[in-house]
Amino acid sequence: MRCLVLSVENITKVYRKTEKEVRALDGVSLNVNSGEFAAVEGPSGSGKSTLLFAAGSLLAPDDGQILIDGRNPYAMSFDERARFRAERIGFVFQQFHLIPYLTVLENILTPSILLKAENPHESAMQLIERFGLTERIHHVLAELSTGERQRTALARAFINSPSLILADEPTGNLDRENAEIVIRSLVEFADTGGSVLLVTHDAYAVQYATKTLHLENGRVRNN
Ligand SMILES: Nc1ncnc2c1ncn2[C@@H]1O[C@H](COP(=O)(O)OP(=O)(O)O)[C@@H](O)[C@H]1O
Ligand SMILES: [Mg+2]
Repeated sequence: MRCLVLSVENITKVYRKTEKEVRALDGVSLNVNSGEFAAVEGPSGSGKSTLLFAAGSLLAPDDGQILIDGRNPYAMSFDERARFRAERIGFVFQQFHLIPYLTVLENILTPSILLKAENPHESAMQLIERFGLTERIHHVLAELSTGERQRTALARAFINSPSLILADEPTGNLDRENAEIVIRSLVEFADTGGSVLLVTHDAYAVQYATKTLHLENGRVRNN
């Protein structure tokens, strides 16, 4: 049975850091069900990352509502939200956001620290094998190729068995072979009941989505 995992209802986000305010999101709505791979395509500056951060409980919208597995993360305390995020959401970013002085294994394990997981080490080892990182397990960031970095970040996203994966231009820095590994793992995740929201301007990544929305100037374009 399909169920609603991510609900974004009419959200608005305005950045007011400088004198000129930027309306990054202007009434955006979307739903992602279990088993769905949703892509949001749009040019640079259209609000894709802002949408992903808001959906990921990292950036409260000014207006509208976000629900993840039926719960509003912004109504939670800081600690509760951090735990909820670690439990439910896996993140993959264009710039990887790995911790430089930690090894591949340690980076993959970081999201499990907040949870009392059964056996995170065993899960990490399975992911390391799955993503072809066995030879790199004790290497730090500087010793990894770009593809190995993103595969490490991908393994980290899966470590807590999330219900939702949020990916921000995950193929933006990758060669085709590594881009395929990333996209295929997201497709497989959705095929086995997970939910994916990917934001990108890479047409290659979009073609595997089960639904695609277009974002322009902070609004979803109807076409
Ligand atoms: N922290 C911020 N402060 C001020 N403006 C921001 C901030 N982050 C993003 N913006 C602006 O908001 C708009 C949307 O940005 P972003 O969500 O990063 O778009 P995209 O990911 O599609 O490139 C852009 O005009 C950007 O310059
Ligand atoms: Mg962006």
